[in-house]
Amino acid sequence: MKTIVIIGSTGTIGSALASYFKNENCIEASRSLKTKENKVHLDLSDFRSVCDFIKRISIEKIDILFLNSGVFEEKKYTQDGYEYNFMVNAFSPYYIAKRVLELQPDCRIVLTSSISILHAKQELNPKNWKRIYRNTKLIEHGLLKNLEGLYPNSIFYAHPGIVPSRLSFGLHAVPTRRFIQLFGNTLEAGANCLIYASSLPSCKNTWVVPRGIFNLRGRPKVKKIKRSVLLKDEIKKTIIKMEKELEEKYGI
Ligand SMILES: NC(=O)c1ccc[n+]([C@@H]2O[C@H](COP(=O)([O-])OP(=O)(O)OC[C@H]3O[C@@H](n4cnc5c(N)ncnc54)[C@H](OP(=O)(O)O)[C@@H]3O)[C@@H](O)[C@H]2O)c1
Repeated sequence: MKTIVIIGSTGTIGSALASYFKNENCIEASRSLKTKENKVHLDLSDFRSVCDFIKRISIEKIDILFLNSGVFEEKKYTQDGYEYNFMVNAFSPYYIAKRVLELQPDCRIVLTSSISILHAKQELNPKNWKRIYRNTKLIEHGLLKNLEGLYPNSIFYAHPGIVPSRLSFGLHAVPTRRFIQLFGNTLEAGANCLIYASSLPSCKNTWVVPRGIFNLRGRPKVKKIKRSVLLKDEIKKTIIKMEKELEEKYGI
């Protein structure tokens, strides 16, 4: 039996993933779960919760860790004063991946990325606030890519297509929501992209996307990522500073 950890297991795509792995030792984590057996309460905006989660999963020999959470919040900050989307979408998933790989370098990590990163910038104060989602997803992808230097062939990337969900509806106006409902991907097909990515030998400069038009829906295929995901020095410095500040504050 494999041990699978799913962060964001209560969401639309996460629930399809959890259902696919129901016969494995599947550990689910999200904000709305109460800690009990294989369910773990995890709030990615709270560094204490992130550290407790790392401690909990470190007792397991993890085969696959799915980083599948995602959020879009306007003008919100964490209790430690960091921009909320940045902490939840980028810093915390990266920090968890880094700590898990330090202990278990052969664990496979699958990141649910997003095609929206193709139009994103590494910028945390966008004029149009909705861009913070894609910008923080790009930074998340870049941070994971950075870890590949130390752990080659351990990190896999997938875009699940456009799936009707709380998150995708929160990012779009009513006409686009309707379009997503009519032409978007199903949650199972979205989850399939992630499952397929987890079975690949490597994901160097590639990701798994649905093969249909605009990668909206369809069966998974491997595709080259048509943009650079290398992080700017400014972002790398911000992450190092944040890591130091939080570890000092919480005595890690
Ligand atoms: N839907 C799409 O079209 C689409 C397209 C491209 C990429 N994606 C990516 O797919 C992934 C899943 O998204 P989805 O569409 O399934 O959205 P969703 O239904 O809104 O699910 C989001 C998940 O993230 C968890 N989450 C949010 N904030 C959290 C926090 N502070 N701490 C811990 N967990 C948190 C939520 O759980 P709680 O609320 O219980 O905490 C939920 O399980 C995300 O990474 C998203 O960026 C989605």
